[in-house]
Amino acid sequence: MKEKIVKILKQNKNKYISGEIISDELNVTRTSIWKYISVLRKEGYVIDSASRKGYKLISYPDVLDIEVLERKLSTNHIGKTIYYYDTVDSTNIKAKNIALDENNGAVIISEEQTKGRGRLGRDWISPKYKGVWMSIILKPNIPPEDAPKITQIAAAAVSKSFDDLGIKNKIKWPNDIVINKKKVCGILTEMSGEIGRLKYIVIGIGINANLDEKDLTDDIKEMATSIKIENGSIVNRENLIIDILEKFEYLYEDFLKTKSLNKTLDICSEKSALLGKMVYLVKGEERFKVRAIDLDSEGRLIVEDKLGNKETIISGEISIRGLENYV
Ligand code: BTN
Repeated sequence: MKEKIVKILKQNKNKYISGEIISDELNVTRTSIWKYISVLRKEGYVIDSASRKGYKLISYPDVLDIEVLERKLSTNHIGKTIYYYDTVDSTNIKAKNIALDENNGAVIISEEQTKGRGRLGRDWISPKYKGVWMSIILKPNIPPEDAPKITQIAAAAVSKSFDDLGIKNKIKWPNDIVINKKKVCGILTEMSGEIGRLKYIVIGIGINANLDEKDLTDDIKEMATSIKIENGSIVNRENLIIDILEKFEYLYEDFLKTKSLNKTLDICSEKSALLGKMVYLVKGEERFKVRAIDLDSEGRLIVEDKLGNKETIISGEISIRGLENYV
């Protein structure tokens, strides 16, 4: 009902429409229209009301238009089923709850997460209407140890989509996208399987699209930012999601077909924030200064210490930090 009222108000934007007309059209009482209007105001809709004139929509929050998104999306599998929520605990949790019964490529999107989860058990702040909080359910026929490759496919897809929208960015191996050395996107890959057999993978993508400074808590301000903060303008989240899902499908299908990550790694190398740089490898309490020198064909990071000893790093076992900042 709320959505129907919003639709009518939007069709009549900048002019008053009477409560009576709305209630006739929707076949509910004027009192219940008034109650829904109060709820909408609490959700950030600015609706003027004047006696004998009715209601006028002044402004509204940036709610995702999933119908538009579905109509424009030109993928074969990814996002063919979309579950859209106003609020959830975590889209990854939702995805894992339904993954066994779902089709490959189903996508869960929420306007807000109350228990957004990051890597290494961290929290992920996910304020309403301001970010892209989504998870993709995948059922590829690959060994479980190949799952981290899908994380890199997602990172490459997000990075290239940012490029398309004119948003300068780099990839901080393996799964962060950074702007001006601060993180704007993180990817959390979770899976279920047995030895040698993968049941499903959930790729959770979190993008700080239109967050304001006040949305970032003090403990992450140093390391995190949003596209809006860095670029000064609001990002169209529907276009961003569409672009990411299309690019992700292209790279993912290429990987399954060719069994090679080449296309993804070309992007990850070209866009790398680390290659050629001195960084710290952080293992628990210890940290080692090394130079990041290359990605191997499996997407693992090759580093070299000052004695020329090389080491191959598998994602997940280690954190990487820049010498002064996050990158
Ligand atoms: C990281 O720590 O860098 C990974 C962050 C991943 C956040 C996304 S938001 C959508 C999905 N749902 C979650 O709870 N987490 C991921």
